[in-house]
Amino acid sequence: MADKQVIAVVGATGMQGGGLVRAILANPAAGMTVRALTRDVHSDKAKELARLGAEVVAADVHDVESLKRAFAGASGVFCVTFFWAHMSPEKEFAEAEAMAKAAKSTGVRHVVWSTLEDTRRWVPLSDNRMPTLLGKYKVPHFDVKGEADQLFKQLGVPTTCLLTSFYWDNLIHFGMGPKPGPDGALAFTLPMGEARLPGIAAEDIGKCALGIFKKRDAYLGRTVGIAGEHLTGSQMAAALTKALGREVRYNAVPPEIYRTFGFPGADDLGNMFQFKRDFNAVFCAARDPEIARTLNAGLQTFAQWLEANKAQIPLS
Ligand SMILES: NC(=O)c1ccc[n+]([C@@H]2O[C@H](COP(=O)([O-])OP(=O)(O)OC[C@H]3O[C@@H](n4cnc5c(N)ncnc54)[C@H](OP(=O)(O)O)[C@@H]3O)[C@@H](O)[C@H]2O)c1
Repeated sequence: MADKQVIAVVGATGMQGGGLVRAILANPAAGMTVRALTRDVHSDKAKELARLGAEVVAADVHDVESLKRAFAGASGVFCVTFFWAHMSPEKEFAEAEAMAKAAKSTGVRHVVWSTLEDTRRWVPLSDNRMPTLLGKYKVPHFDVKGEADQLFKQLGVPTTCLLTSFYWDNLIHFGMGPKPGPDGALAFTLPMGEARLPGIAAEDIGKCALGIFKKRDAYLGRTVGIAGEHLTGSQMAAALTKALGREVRYNAVPPEIYRTFGFPGADDLGNMFQFKRDFNAVFCAARDPEIARTLNAGLQTFAQWLEANKAQIPLS
């Protein structure tokens, strides 16, 4: 049997990368082995990946030499950046640049780059429907990823740009789950009116990435978007009501109000949801669940994700 291809995974102990690591380990027939990158090979999460069968190596996306060592000999690399770790678009751009350079210098055959739209293509800085942030962005954590697509192209790295979607796991880990109002009733807040939010189980992003690595020739040089479903806030609240056995109301606040919520990144996320609302047809069309299902046959719906995860959603 031919040697297995090594897939190096950035963010292997996190949501997107972790899903890919587990997907590769669960699919030995795909002919791939996985190299999990982490800053701390001794952490519990890193040790767990090693126990499952991953090769675990140290690397930091702020250290290009460490990336070159970690990518050496790999046939594929999954690249993701960490905006919320520092909330600096400049740092995020540097992370992408280091990965693109390391992939180029090690001759990687296929990079899957986890990206998002540069919203300034649709909302130029001069457009006052949403505020300009940090002097040159509308949605910093989107815009900088979209801007970084060019880094891979300019260096001639064989790349697939993967447009991801809102993780439903944000209801557990990102403070976006239903919250009790003054009357005790649960409300699910989203500043999107009746527009549809493409969402996905974070674990399914990695599974779709595996599908892209398996279909390298079909996806090289292309941008592909994925989602599990496109649901309105009302539909998500109805699904939550059913899964939790307790009424959850949809609280559709305007983005102007959401931006003032005061938590770190509220302005960035308010602009993000407004972009998704105001350019809903374009945003949804770029993320076809049917395409995602061709990459990952087990793609979950929101109801399926809720059934498996509802107990973890904090309700206070
Ligand atoms: N939340 C959403 O709905 C959503 C949707 C689409 C896209 N995104 C984007 O997803 C990205 C984050 O991906 P994620 O959610 O998979 O991340 P995550 O779950 O927060 O995990 C990040 C992992 O990356 C590692 N890491 C952090 N800084 C690192 C560094 N300097 N060098 C190497 N590894 C580092 C950490 O592992 P170690 O500690 O083991 O090193 C951590 O476990 C963000 O840029 C965000 O904008 C999020």
